[in-house]
Amino acid sequence: MLSAIGLVAAALLVCFTSVGALPKVSRTGKYLFTENGQRFFIKGIAYQTQGLVIPGPDNPLNQPSTSVDNLANAAGCTRDVPVLQKLGVNAIRAYAANSSLNHDACMSMLSGAGIYVILDLTLPLNGSIDTTQPAWSTNTLDQYLRTIDAFEKYDNILAYNIGNEVIGPSATQSAPFVMAAARDIRAYLNSISSSALVGYAAIDGPAQFVDNSAHYLACDRSATSATASIDLFGLNNYEWCGDAANTTFDGLNSRFADYDVAAYFSEFGSENCSPKPRLWTEVPVMFSAPMANTWSGGLAFSYFSAISRGHEFGMAAVSPDNTSITTNADFEILAAKFNNITFLNTPAQGSASSAKPSACPPTDMARWPVATTLPPTPDDAACGCLASALSCVFRPPRADYMVLVGELIGVACELAISSGGSCAEISSNGTSGAYGRLAMCDPTIKLSYVFSQYYELNRRATKACNFSGNATLNSAAPNTNIAAAAAASSCIPSPSAVFTPHAPPALLPIAPSNGNAPAGGSGPGSGSSGGAPARLQWTGLGAIAACVLAGALWTLV
Ligand SMILES: *[C@@H]1O[C@H](CO)[C@@H](O)[C@H](O)[C@H]1NC(C)=O
Ligand SMILES: *[C@@H]1O[C@H](CO)[C@@H](O)[C@H](O)[C@H]1NC(C)=O
Ligand SMILES: *[C@@H]1O[C@H](CO)[C@@H](O)[C@H](O)[C@H]1NC(C)=O
Ligand SMILES: *[C@@H]1O[C@H](CO)[C@@H](O)[C@H](O)[C@H]1NC(C)=O
Ligand SMILES: *[C@@H]1O[C@H](CO)[C@@H](O)[C@H](O)[C@H]1NC(C)=O
Ligand SMILES: *[C@@H]1O[C@H](CO)[C@@H](O)[C@H](O)[C@H]1NC(C)=O
Ligand SMILES: *[C@@H]1O[C@H](CO)[C@@H](O)[C@H](O)[C@H]1NC(C)=O
Ligand SMILES: *[C@@H]1O[C@H](CO)[C@@H](O)[C@H](O)[C@H]1NC(C)=O
Repeated sequence: MLSAIGLVAAALLVCFTSVGALPKVSRTGKYLFTENGQRFFIKGIAYQTQGLVIPGPDNPLNQPSTSVDNLANAAGCTRDVPVLQKLGVNAIRAYAANSSLNHDACMSMLSGAGIYVILDLTLPLNGSIDTTQPAWSTNTLDQYLRTIDAFEKYDNILAYNIGNEVIGPSATQSAPFVMAAARDIRAYLNSISSSALVGYAAIDGPAQFVDNSAHYLACDRSATSATASIDLFGLNNYEWCGDAANTTFDGLNSRFADYDVAAYFSEFGSENCSPKPRLWTEVPVMFSAPMANTWSGGLAFSYFSAISRGHEFGMAAVSPDNTSITTNADFEILAAKFNNITFLNTPAQGSASSAKPSACPPTDMARWPVATTLPPTPDDAACGCLASALSCVFRPPRADYMVLVGELIGVACELAISSGGSCAEISSNGTSGAYGRLAMCDPTIKLSYVFSQYYELNRRATKACNFSGNATLNSAAPNTNIAAAAAASSCIPSPSAVFTPHAPPALLPIAPSNGNAPAGGSGPGSGSSGGAPARLQWTGLGAIAACVLAGALWTLV
């Protein structure tokens, strides 16, 4: 069965690839144009199999904890591309790509069908900037760059999204980190001569919040850095319900009339209104004046089954053997609307020249408590230098250590602080714009830094570098007398540097260190004279209990 699908895939590949490359799309001011000078609108659909959602108090937003890379599924694309063509789309949005996999077949089939891809660089769990504990760090940057490197060869990449719903109405402090990601990804794309757009998909919310988010990501930073801006502001908007009045979007239109970069709906299609099926009466409104004078289209949600708050947004059901698709009435109605759109072709590219970007929304503790200063570019070399110089390092007890690192940072910080240390250098504050020297490093390096401080403050007693077996002495450290803080200043001399990131290092699993942890017990229970305070073990356990909440928060996104 699989090889038969493979054969069809190969055949489709041949027939689609003969069509030729899709025209490049670029942004001039607030409009998108193809290289032929036509205005370009995104007329698309979300194309993403929903990951496994484990609901619970730790997961109020029902975030998935696993991901599916639909663009690596050649048989799935063979099955779906003709259905997408029937729907009349020119773009899909994929939410989770695995850079280790091969995407040639899907990307080629989509290109042959005239379909661009808007690709989220994020992944579930730790593969995104965290909403509540944000950082812009080497691990996230490298994941983004690896994904770009895996997709840049395709002619139909329209945009890379650097985040989805990261900035929230009560979590605005993540905005500087999202903006730093946009800045660094733009610089990287420029350095490899990529014309892909840099996008962000925003959660809808109070007007002032949405407007501030939009302007923060597109405002004039020329005084402080190279021009950095997103190209494409996506709004996940479910405002239009059922057969709503044509005036529904009027407020939004006037608020975005002066927006400086392209804006579109990165998700739309409310399920909240009866009667079902969805009527999609917003579609002709979105693609004609006056809305099309301000917006550049949208992505209907969703091709695959997607259940949110009890509503099913899916329009194409996959058969149990994965070989065929059954579309529903939502799909048929949307297809009729999408296939009856003529794109507006004004203004002409020549008269759409970019206006001067607007000023950045100022920090306002009541309404927009967000620093205008951005965090630095994550620096793999500097963080790597530090990792090899630290005296006591994290030893991952298992491959899936993400939650554990969050917990241990909480535990180790309490212990280090009670010994006279500090966690300021691993922390950031997106409201004040204070970014710790190590805040850009991988969480495992931050953890090792705190372990090292604690170990050094406790007279380098062997058992002060243990943390229940999660820490080990770093036999590779050049000089065991260098203190963690001194190593940090020496390895990271310019903690606010902004530069064009380089291609990321090869993907290597962090091997558990075989350092010089003694095989026989010299721990608190073993009675040896290590010198660690007797209350270490007890304090550690207490702190672990106290940090469960922090750890759980850390794992949210
Ligand atoms: C990506 O694919 C590789 C190869 O199949 C796999 O080992 C890895 O776990 C995947 N990564 C994610 C994040 O799913
Ligand atoms: C709403 O707008 C659409 C598209 O512009 C148009 O076809 C339709 O007639 C309008 N309906 C009303 C009630 O104005
Ligand atoms: C169908 O696809 C899903 C997700 O891609 C996969 O988990 C499942 O095992 C497949 N089922 C069959 C019968 O191949
Ligand atoms: C197609 O679009 C035109 C212009 O908006 C509209 O007048 C017409 O009713 C639409 N036809 C269908 C079948 O929706
Ligand atoms: C997320 O955590 C896992 C370990 O649980 C790690 O292998 C992976 O590299 C991390 N990803 C990022 C982007 O930090
Ligand atoms: C971050 O900075 C703001 C403004 O200076 C301050 O009010 C807030 O308490 C700081 N947050 C943390 C967690 O330190
Ligand atoms: C590491 O820390 C966790 C959480 O404190 C603990 O449960 C575990 O036993 C420790 N050691 C190892 C080897 O996982
Ligand atoms: C480290 O902690 C583990 C678990 O608590 C214990 O078994 C081991 O003996 C300790 N090692 C040292 C060197 O203290």
